Amino acid sequence: MFYTISILFLFSLITLLSLLALHLSRLRASMIAVIARDIPKQSSIFGADSLLNRFMPPISGVLLGIDYSWLSKYKRYQQWNVHFTISFWPGRISLWLADAKAIKAVSSSRRKFPKPVDLYAVLEVFGPNIISSEDSEWKKFRKISGAAFSDRNTKLVWDSTCDVMTTLMIGPWRGQTLISIEHVDTLTLQIALSVLASAAFGKPTESIGSSSHRMSFRDSLHMVASNMWIKLGFPSWMIYIHPQYRCILQAFNELEQYMIEMIADRRDAGKGSTSDDLFGLLLAANEEYDINSQVKLNDRELRGNLFVFLLGGHEGSAHTMSFMFGLLALHQDIQDKLYQNITQVLGSRDPTYEDIKHIPYAMAIVNETLRLFPPVNVIPKRSAEDTSLIVCNNGVSTTIPVPKGMDVYIDTVGLHYNPQYWHDPEKFHPERFLDDWPRDAFLPFGSGSRMWHRKESGLKDSSLTPPSHSFETLNLKAENPWYGN
Ligand code: HEM
Repeated sequence: MFYTISILFLFSLITLLSLLALHLSRLRASMIAVIARDIPKQSSIFGADSLLNRFMPPISGVLLGIDYSWLSKYKRYQQWNVHFTISFWPGRISLWLADAKAIKAVSSSRRKFPKPVDLYAVLEVFGPNIISSEDSEWKKFRKISGAAFSDRNTKLVWDSTCDVMTTLMIGPWRGQTLISIEHVDTLTLQIALSVLASAAFGKPTESIGSSSHRMSFRDSLHMVASNMWIKLGFPSWMIYIHPQYRCILQAFNELEQYMIEMIADRRDAGKGSTSDDLFGLLLAANEEYDINSQVKLNDRELRGNLFVFLLGGHEGSAHTMSFMFGLLALHQDIQDKLYQNITQVLGSRDPTYEDIKHIPYAMAIVNETLRLFPPVNVIPKRSAEDTSLIVCNNGVSTTIPVPKGMDVYIDTVGLHYNPQYWHDPEKFHPERFLDDWPRDAFLPFGSGSRMWHRKESGLKDSSLTPPSHSFETLNLKAENPWYGN
């Protein structure tokens, strides 16, 4: 018995060691030269891209954990504006950047630092799309999607936001002295989805899809967005046998069906129909692409792109609004100032699209929220050739080599809390966005040619406008935890 156990143990050890050796051999000599410097390093068995990081807390020496960049914010960058993570599974050294100039250099060269599309596989669940692609495929998606975002569309987002908020205020909230919301996300997800449904499809959320669905559009989208990693990490049969998780599979099927119906609906409406909504413009741009004898998006690609618009527009905006409401509730003085600022401009009339320019404090609050809580906290890139980057070490510029194949992570949280660019970075201080502020150190929407927002759409400017002037006071219930503490 003892003999058999020893053999088995030895066999497992040899297998493990050979696998480790195989992975370590991927750490090329040039990479090892990189870590010889005194730049801070964090070692773990599993790499930053490991699926386990999506579910698990940090385990020292084993796993970086789900909130890696949030837990340290700027602490890892006290001396250098960069640090390395070294993993054995897969054998890899990755470079993390919180240096504005180095990040600009990385984002402005798509040839040298393309997107590692393999890390975006989770977003391909409904089809290839603009976020998960590179090179010619990305250019095609970008061209067609870019045409869908116009000034007219931005105005539509503004009008929809006003409608949604007015409906809440003259509807369920009318005459109430206290509106208590247990989880602010339930409200902000509802607002974001209602705005998106009207801006993207020109109809209210409730009228999306046929009556044959067993799950609402809103529930299926939210469940898909919250459980994408489970779907990617586990085979369907495994998810199915767990009764609590079975509805996740249903949500994926339902959402796909909703998207199929949306595309069919629009096609049935005929080519002649012109609408300003995002989806109508996207389909029209796709048909135009075909007329110019280029290969247009097939239905799977349409669904893939539609899904990332839904995801970006819904989750990113909703979570930003949640943090913004929380911050305003915690800072009554700032809330009062915003209220004064809005009433000075609007008096008692309803806001118009043009008003936003005259309420700079509202935009400053949105920006400060996005600085403190960027919804996309890390943007990965991969070095396509042996190259170098100039980074800051104790205020002095130093060149570090970046070997081909190295993963380079733009650490948005590290950058947004870097005291080199932001005075008192932990403080909620919207005024910093009223004066001259370090634009290269503020990247909630990414940077370089892959940056989507402002240029094409300005969508977020209108969809994230703080609550209108008829709001009274936002308060936080004492028991609610706040992440930033
Ligand atoms: C607060 C709201 C939002 C935030 C913070 C946000 C953030 C970001 C970031 C950081 C990227 C770059 C990702 C990367 O390079 O890997 C990105 C890309 C993108 N976002 Fe958003 N987003 C928001 C809202 C939206 C909305 C409303 C839409 C559209 C309906 C949208 C559509 C997209 C698209 C299509 C891309 C890909 C651009 C490309 O790769 O060419 N996002 N977003």
